[in-house]
Amino acid sequence: MKYGRALLNDVEGYVPGEQPKDPDVIKLNTNENPYPPSPMALEALRHVSADALRKYPDPLSMRLRARWAELQGYAGPEWVIAGNGMDELLAMAVRTFVDPGDGILTTWPTYTLYETLARLHGARVEAVELDDAFQLPETFYGHGGRLCFLPRPNAPTGVCAPRQDVERFCSGFPGLVVIDEAYVDFADDDCMDLAKRHENVIVMRTFSKSFSLAGLRLGLAVAQPGIIAEFLKTKDSYNLNAVTQAVGLAALNDYEYMKRNAARVVATRKRVTAALEGLGFVVTPSQSNFVLARWGGKPEARTVFERLKERRIFVRYFDVPRLRDALRISIGTEQEMDALIAALRDIVQ
Ligand SMILES: Cc1ncc(COP(=O)(O)O)c(C=O)c1O
Repeated sequence: MKYGRALLNDVEGYVPGEQPKDPDVIKLNTNENPYPPSPMALEALRHVSADALRKYPDPLSMRLRARWAELQGYAGPEWVIAGNGMDELLAMAVRTFVDPGDGILTTWPTYTLYETLARLHGARVEAVELDDAFQLPETFYGHGGRLCFLPRPNAPTGVCAPRQDVERFCSGFPGLVVIDEAYVDFADDDCMDLAKRHENVIVMRTFSKSFSLAGLRLGLAVAQPGIIAEFLKTKDSYNLNAVTQAVGLAALNDYEYMKRNAARVVATRKRVTAALEGLGFVVTPSQSNFVLARWGGKPEARTVFERLKERRIFVRYFDVPRLRDALRISIGTEQEMDALIAALRDIVQ
């Protein structure tokens, strides 16, 4: 491109899952929550005033940050940064803490946005291949870098590294570690406390999955106040709009509602895992609101994905190494998953 930067010549840009217009599609392709957001969040949305829209929002999102600190056992808002979705926080982490040419450590397979962000910044990416169980290999611990993206649970595998392994890694890594906990509300445990004890740890969460608020765009991160102060230097002036701040705060005030929905999704995940295994899929043990279902039979996984799509059931297929034999399936409602299993039975048997 004549006017583009040389750096962009070999960057493709992140490709998100499809958002079909047809409301009748059974949409199991982008890990959204099938249940509605908290009634308190919807009430807050209805009460956004003309005045709140007329004026600029709080540039520092102070109420939201203070509430998150309180809920997660951190001393105050100076330990928290808010972003327009976690993706913005991931991009800010690169912008704030990595110089072009520096190394960013990650794994393969993982969330592909990490590599896109690194390349957009002219950073070097080192992606360490996960072992056969999609766990961190021993060699991972010896690696250096300015920043490491470590999702727990990982995407698109759903696998959680043991907590003590994450802590061991953080203790030895010379740069900053971003622990991406996008899916952690569906897991057995979390690493939220690690930023208190490790000066190089940033723990990030999103409202897109467990809070059923992907359309709102809200992410939060905790880290030591010195790290947060650096983030504040690089953030957009008003990165969170007034609606997001009001609705996000209301959702936090109904934390139990989110927990109940997450528990429903986990119960469905267990049932669906057994049903998929019954059909001959090998399902990676998932701690997320999706499963990675590997398929060694006929027709091959890509064709299964296409046949599901013809039936208006959307799942995700990644045409990349280690994932070509698999479908990533988000956990929907009980009825949606019944429809999926019935369709798969038809296609693979
Ligand atoms: C591992 C991981 N991190 C972060 C995100 C982004 O979250 P958000 O919607 O808050 O930008 C996703 C979304 O799919 C994800 O899979």
